[in-house]
Formats: sequence, C-alpha cells, structure tokens
Amino acid sequence: METILVTGGTGGLGWPTVEQLNAPGRDVRVLSRKPGPGRYVGDLGTGSGLAAALDGVDTVLHLATSRGIKDSAQTRVLLSAARAADIRHIIYISIVGVEKIPYFYYRNKVECERLISESDIPWTILRATQFHHFVGGFFRSQRRLPALFSLDVPDQPIAVEEVAARLVELTGASPAGRVPDIGGPECLPLSELGRQWQLAHGTKKRQWTLHIPGKTIRPFQAGHHMTPLPGAGRKSFAEYAAEEAGR
Ligand SMILES: NC(=O)c1ccc[n+]([C@@H]2O[C@H](COP(=O)([O-])OP(=O)(O)OC[C@H]3O[C@@H](n4cnc5c(N)ncnc54)[C@H](OP(=O)(O)O)[C@@H]3O)[C@@H](O)[C@H]2O)c1
Repeated sequence: METILVTGGTGGLGWPTVEQLNAPGRDVRVLSRKPGPGRYVGDLGTGSGLAAALDGVDTVLHLATSRGIKDSAQTRVLLSAARAADIRHIIYISIVGVEKIPYFYYRNKVECERLISESDIPWTILRATQFHHFVGGFFRSQRRLPALFSLDVPDQPIAVEEVAARLVELTGASPAGRVPDIGGPECLPLSELGRQWQLAHGTKKRQWTLHIPGKTIRPFQAGHHMTPLPGAGRKSFAEYAAEEAGR
C-alpha cells in the first residue's frame, strides 16, 4: 500500500487529483484546515497537524497555495515536517515561466521550487499553464458588468483534470527533478477566449481589450507563461466553456 498526502487536496487542482489518485493499493490523505471525510486537519501556516498527517506517508503532493506570498514560508514548514517523517518523494506544482515574470506570486513560486530542489527529500516539480477554470473565473467575475474586459495577453489554458492525470503519473514514478512543462492545446489572445466564453454562455456583451503597460505584464505579452505548441493538453477552452455553461 502506498500512502500519499495531498496538500491542497480540497482545491481546484487538488480535488480532481485526489479523485484520480483514489485506486486500490493507494491510501490517499487530504490535508485541509477544515475537517471532513478522508481529511487530516492541519495548517501549513503554523505546522499544526502535520506530524500526524505525514506519519507513514511515502509521497507528498504539494498543491496547497495561499495564492500569495505565504507559500514559501508554508513550503518551508512542510519540508521540515516531511524530513522528520522520512518522506520518500515530494511532488510540487508550479507555473510555467515563473522565473521570467516579476510578479510577486510567481517570485514566491520560484522560491518554493528552490526550497524543494535544494532539500534533501527526493523531488519532482511540474510546471503548468493557467487552468481553464482560472481563465473562466476571470470572465465569470465580470458577469454583472455591461461589457467583457480582457488584457492584451495570449494564454494557453489547460484542463485541470489533465494536470491532475500528469500528477498521478508522476506519483507512480521515481523522483524526476524538473519534468517537462505542461500546457493547453492552443495559445490564443485572451479576447478570443472571452469570445468563446460568450458563445458558450449565450451572451453578446461588447468586448474591450485593455492595454496595461509595465514590466510585470510585458513577459505575459511576450508569452513567457506558455509552452511550445502542441501543448500536452487535449481539451480546448471552448470545450471547457461549453461544459461549464451546461452545468
Ligand atoms: N490556478 C491556476 O491557473 C494554476 C496554474 C498552474 C499552477 N497552479 C498551481 O496549482 C496549485 C493549486 O492551485 P489551485 O488554483 O487549485 O488552488 P486553490 O483552489 O486556491 O486551493 C488552495 C488549496 O490550498 C489549501 N491551503 C491554503 N492555505 C493552507 C494552509 N495554511 N494549510 C493547509 N492548506 C492550505 C486549501 O485547503 P483548505 O482551504 O481546505 O485548508 C486549498 O485546498 C497552486 O500551487 C498553484 O500555484 C495554478
């Protein structure tokens, strides 16, 4: 029996990953700050509950995020507890292009990658492009606005289930260091993704593309957050939007 702890197992990526990991021969634990079935209550901010959650664990999938600058401190806390628990493999999810984009959250991801790769725990790091639901969430958040705004950046969104499937493969494999980045099947202007979103949702709002100057957005405009085509992902954003609209 292989025992796996998934940090962030209640999140947008964590949930489908846990679903796909659940199979005979695997004991899958979810770390969460809130109690629930199959969960180990713990907090990466304080380290509480980590020793119990990690006891007897072989592999840790570190998918939790504060969506901010606390990630590196939390990764440090996790690594220290994982070392004490003699974990055999830690797998971390990062984002394509983090080292090229001077965005505070991405700088913090670079620091998390460094902490993991310099730790004495065998590791694997996978970088992915933006998830479909992240881009969809950007458009959904504008549902009460009379227009649909985009930025003049391209994007290569990927289905979260496809990232989850890759993480499951990596869980069953030996620690591999930095593995090839994973991205969606198409690189499209955000405005085109907005058009596809409107088509799926039956809305016809006027679309505006905002040009925001600055050194943070420039690498996004240059596409440093994308992988070469064809990306590893198969499901298009249009397919995702149609499914999402039908729910
Ligand atoms: N979103 C994207 O487009 C994208 C693209 C590429 C890579 N990624 C990476 O994928 C990972 C997952 O992203 P996501 O969008 O799925 O995240 P999410 O939905 O925001 O989920 C965050 C998770 O982190 C857990 N968490 C937060 N603070 C915690 C703490 N102090 N202690 C324990 N758990 C804590 C939450 O668990 P509880 O609330 O249950 O405690 C939750 O399960 C992140 O590393 C992100 O950088 C995201």
